[in-house]
Amino acid sequence: MTDHATHLAAARARLSAATSLEDLQSIEREFLGKDGVVARALAAIPTLPPAERKEAGQAANRIKQEVAAALDARRAELAGAALDAERRADGFDPTVQPPRVERGGLHPIVQVTRELEDLFVSMGYQVLDGPEVELDLYNFEKLNIPPDHPARDAQDTFYIDPATVAPGAGRMVLRTHTSPVQVRAMERLAPPFRAIVPGKVFRQEEVDASHEHTFHQMEGLVIDKGISVGHLVHAMRTLLRGIFHRELDVRLRPGYFPFVEPGFELDARCPFCTQGCSVCKGTTWVELLPCGLVHPNVLRHGGLDPEVWGGFAFGLGLSRLVMLRFGIDDVRHLLQGDLRFLEQF
Ligand code: PHE
Repeated sequence: MTDHATHLAAARARLSAATSLEDLQSIEREFLGKDGVVARALAAIPTLPPAERKEAGQAANRIKQEVAAALDARRAELAGAALDAERRADGFDPTVQPPRVERGGLHPIVQVTRELEDLFVSMGYQVLDGPEVELDLYNFEKLNIPPDHPARDAQDTFYIDPATVAPGAGRMVLRTHTSPVQVRAMERLAPPFRAIVPGKVFRQEEVDASHEHTFHQMEGLVIDKGISVGHLVHAMRTLLRGIFHRELDVRLRPGYFPFVEPGFELDARCPFCTQGCSVCKGTTWVELLPCGLVHPNVLRHGGLDPEVWGGFAFGLGLSRLVMLRFGIDDVRHLLQGDLRFLEQF
């Protein structure tokens, strides 16, 4: 064996026997250090016969490179083993993927509500809230719907057990619309004012793809002097522009609601077609919202003199609008909390 081969074999044997990083350090010193095997071989070159010097120099350099490479490899192995041991000792494994962070999003109803709030606030409206468990008085009576009025049939709801209601509070229901906040607003705010009321409403419904027992509306109310149907139409056109980002024609059909006079159903030109589609059922008009001028009795119930003050009101079907906007074909998706649905928004 040449000296070169002997040295390499010795280095490999020592390296594979090494069990610690300290062992490796001493092997490094022994072979590559100032006084090590390689340094001594290089120092001895001038004493060799000239013909052997070149080869001896090359051999020393090869040992240096090979030992250095082997040291690096073994160092990495030992470091890995040390890390493994550490992990086993404290149960912490830095290579395990952390659980995926689930990011939430805003529900489509919340998204549309916020957009509409921005739009109406920019037109001077304030955003109001009202109780979901409401007095019959506000949900019906103050809105010109007395106890035996047939309009109650269209808004059957959930009645609160009188035994659970504070004595003397009066009959309570889950509100069937956001309209009770009309009178609450008149009682609280000094006229003139403009307000919207987004919120949840409830009805005793046969649930299907277009009917839910719980859904969302947004009431609008403007109280001022000299309010006419023209003001109402203008506000509704602005609303449509905000929602669909373009000018859509509207039409009014007569509609009956005891708390407005005159009352209308407002339709808009179908935002999706010009010659009839499944959304407008071939008519090119989509039913958008009921609205009208506030009935004098309602103004009176709100403490306002109908000879002085007037107003208009509208009841936007928020759930329906969200469905139109996102192309959702079943209202039941909205409140079911199914992530496969919700993650799409
Ligand atoms: N509150 C009525 C409903 O839910 C809608 C409406 C609101 C009608 C305001 C006229 C004015 O059916």
